[in-house]
Amino acid sequence: MFPILRKERLAPGINLFEIKAPKIARHAKPSQFIILRLHERGERIPLTIADHDPERGTITIVAQEVGKTTHELGTYEEGDAILDILGPLGRPSHIDRFGTVVMIGGGVGVAEIYPVAKAMKEVGNYVISILGFRTKELVFWEDKLRNVSDEVIVTTNDGSYGMKGFTTHALAKLIEEGKRIDLVHAVGPVVMMKAVAELTRQYGIKTVASLNPIMVDGSGMCGACRVTVGGQVKFACVDGPEFDAHLVDWDELMKRLTYYRELEIMSFERWKG
Ligand code: FAD
Ligand code: FES
Repeated sequence: MFPILRKERLAPGINLFEIKAPKIARHAKPSQFIILRLHERGERIPLTIADHDPERGTITIVAQEVGKTTHELGTYEEGDAILDILGPLGRPSHIDRFGTVVMIGGGVGVAEIYPVAKAMKEVGNYVISILGFRTKELVFWEDKLRNVSDEVIVTTNDGSYGMKGFTTHALAKLIEEGKRIDLVHAVGPVVMMKAVAELTRQYGIKTVASLNPIMVDGSGMCGACRVTVGGQVKFACVDGPEFDAHLVDWDELMKRLTYYRELEIMSFERWKG
């Protein structure tokens, strides 16, 4: 069992959990994730290791309530425990001294870019973080990202905080201002990552995206997380989750994410009672 040491409501529908998991905390690297199962009848869902503390032996996950399992996780409190957690899974980010790196997080993706931004900064990159939210009350971890970035730009779709618009508007502004950008790293909704890729392709800016297909076993065996990258079949759990964003078949990914929609809704409704 994996006890929850701390729970924090970061924003409506977004929960942080600090969980005792010493072995995972010892080995976790940026962009790696875990697959958890809440209890014996629970399904397995992947969540990024948003932070970790090898000394305390803890990992931090930030989960957005979207369906049955993430809502059920949201009912867990400090002192509760999660039945099993598998990880760290996936290939770590390629961290190098690229020059200027623009980190883009959309919604809960902001938590996922944190460990990568931190590592990019530690090796000497100039880090610009663009954090995109629908509205002001959903903004979280701006301060945490400021600690590991040289510049932070917050965007809200409705203009209630920071720059009005999408993360791509902030990125386009940087490009138009003539900012030299050596690498863009994007994590968030598929539509956002696709839009970032389409923009940076025009300027030949290397872009990496962390993909979020449906995952089951996380070990390359079940095929659930199949994605097409550069015309080749890849399994995001073992070959990713990060890929060259200019080579990803985004439309296929979007289609595959909706395959089980009816069953997901049914399962959520049944759980709600
Ligand atoms: P459901 O109703 O089952 O599904 C809602 C939607 O979530 C689905 O339509 C589908 O698009 C997606 N989804 C469903 N099941 C899975 C699954 N087993 N694997 C992946 N996606 C699924 N979310 C976060 O909030 N924080 C994170 O840090 C985070 N990291 C992720 C890292 C990786 C590598 C991947 C692949 C996904 C990550 N996700 C993260 C997405 C998260 O796994 C899904 O939101 C979650 O599985 C939804 O489960 P549910 O039962 O609550 O919702
Ligand atoms: Fe099963 Fe990737 S989750 S192959």
